[in-house]
Amino acid sequence: MAPPRILAAKAADAPTVAATAPPSLWDPVVRLSHWGIAAAVVLNALVNEGGSLAHVSIGWGAMALLLMRLIWGVLGPTEARFSAFPPNPLTAIAHLRGLASGERPREYPSHNPAGALMVYAFWAALTVVIATGLVMTGGATPMQVAADKAAVASGDWAALVKDDGEEDGEDSVFKEGAEEMHEIAANLLLILAALHIAGVFVEGRLIRRNLLAPMLLGSKTKAEAKRRQ
Ligand code: HEM
Ligand code: HEM
Repeated sequence: MAPPRILAAKAADAPTVAATAPPSLWDPVVRLSHWGIAAAVVLNALVNEGGSLAHVSIGWGAMALLLMRLIWGVLGPTEARFSAFPPNPLTAIAHLRGLASGERPREYPSHNPAGALMVYAFWAALTVVIATGLVMTGGATPMQVAADKAAVASGDWAALVKDDGEEDGEDSVFKEGAEEMHEIAANLLLILAALHIAGVFVEGRLIRRNLLAPMLLGSKTKAEAKRRQ
C-alpha cells in the first residue's frame, strides 16, 4: 500500500547529508555571477584605466551580474537564497574559533557563517563602487560614453560640457567625494578578495574538502559522490 501523503512528504523532507552539506556544484547563476564579478573587479581595479570605455562597460556588466545574483537570492534554489546564509557575526566568530582550535566544523547547506559575512561585505562594497561610478559618470550608459569619447576625438569638445554647464574637469565636491569613495571601496574589494581566497584554501584544507570545485564545474570525485548518497 502506498504511504499516506503526509508521511511520504515527511520522509522526503527528512534531513540527509545532502540536505545539510553545501552543494557539490553551485548552480549556473551563482557560478556565472561569481566568476563574472571576480573578473570585473580584477580588470577594473588592476588592469584598465579608470573611467575608460572598457572600465565603464565592465562596471555596467558587474552591475547586471550583481542584480541578477540578488534576485536569485530570493528566487533561486535553497542553497543560493539569502535565507540559507544569514549574516550573523557571533556564529561567524564561533565558526572561526572552532576552526582555529582544530575542531571539525559542522556542515552548512550554503556558505559557512564566516563566508556568509564575506559575501555580504563583497556585495556591499561592490554596490558602493557601482553607485559612485554612476555618480561620477552622471549615469551615462557605455553607449553614451562611447559616443561622447568619439565626439571629443573628432574635435567636438561640446560633448565634455554637461547639462548642468559643468565641464568634465571641474568636478563638484559631490563628484570628488564619489571619486574618493569609489577608490576606497575598490581597494576594499581587493583586500576582501585576498582574504576570501586565503579563506577558501585554509578552510578547505582544515575540513579536507575541495571548496573550489563546486564553484567551477562541480566535484566529480567518486569519494565525494559516494559521501553525498
Ligand atoms: C567592478 C567594479 C569597479 C571597480 C573595481 C572600479 C575600480 C576603479 C578604480 C581602482 C579607479 C581608480 C583608477 C585610477 O585612478 O586610475 C576607478 C576610476 C573610475 N571608475 Fe571605476 N570601478 C568599478 C566600476 C565602475 C563603474 C560601474 C563606473 C561607472 C559607471 C566607474 C567609473 C569610473 C570612473 C569615471 C573613474 C575615473 C575617476 C577619476 O576621474 O579619476 N567604475 N575605478
Ligand atoms: C575578486 C575576486 C573574487 C570575488 C569578488 C569573489 C566573490 C565571491 C562571492 C560574492 C561569493 C559568494 C557567491 C554567491 O553566493 O553568489 C564567493 C564564493 C566563493 N568563491 Fe569567490 N570571489 C573572488 C575570487 C575567487 C577566487 C580566485 C576563488 C578561487 C580560488 C574563489 C572561490 C570561491 C569559492 C570556492 C566560493 C564558495 C565558498 C563556499 O563554499 O561557501 N573566489 N566569492
